[in-house]
Amino acid sequence: MTGAPPAGTVLCRLDELRDPGGREFSFGGRPHVFEMFVMRKGDAAYGYVNDCPHTRSPLNWQPDVFLDTTRRHIQCATHGAQFRIEDGYCIWGPCKGDSLTPVPVRVENGLVVVV
Ligand code: FES
Repeated sequence: MTGAPPAGTVLCRLDELRDPGGREFSFGGRPHVFEMFVMRKGDAAYGYVNDCPHTRSPLNWQPDVFLDTTRRHIQCATHGAQFRIEDGYCIWGPCKGDSLTPVPVRVENGLVVVV
């Protein structure tokens, strides 16, 4: 992925994220900014490009707010599409059946690291 952080990049500590909850990250400068976010669920973390498959716009309108009101799914702020936290699959909305683009991450010694 163009502009994606290299493998081994430390994004944050897992315990800095709400459970469940997320945080956005940006890399590079304009016009080639790479925007991604990480979601925490329990002891696991999942990374995605911040790009809704419906219109290719960012999913969030407020900083670090990616969940629906029940905090069970990732929700796009623009038209309300909902995605599973674990794999980014869209279960509801105008892009149902599509998926967010993954940015592989893993948790190492309590740190969320790009794979
Ligand atoms: S832009 Fe995300 S649901 Fe339309």
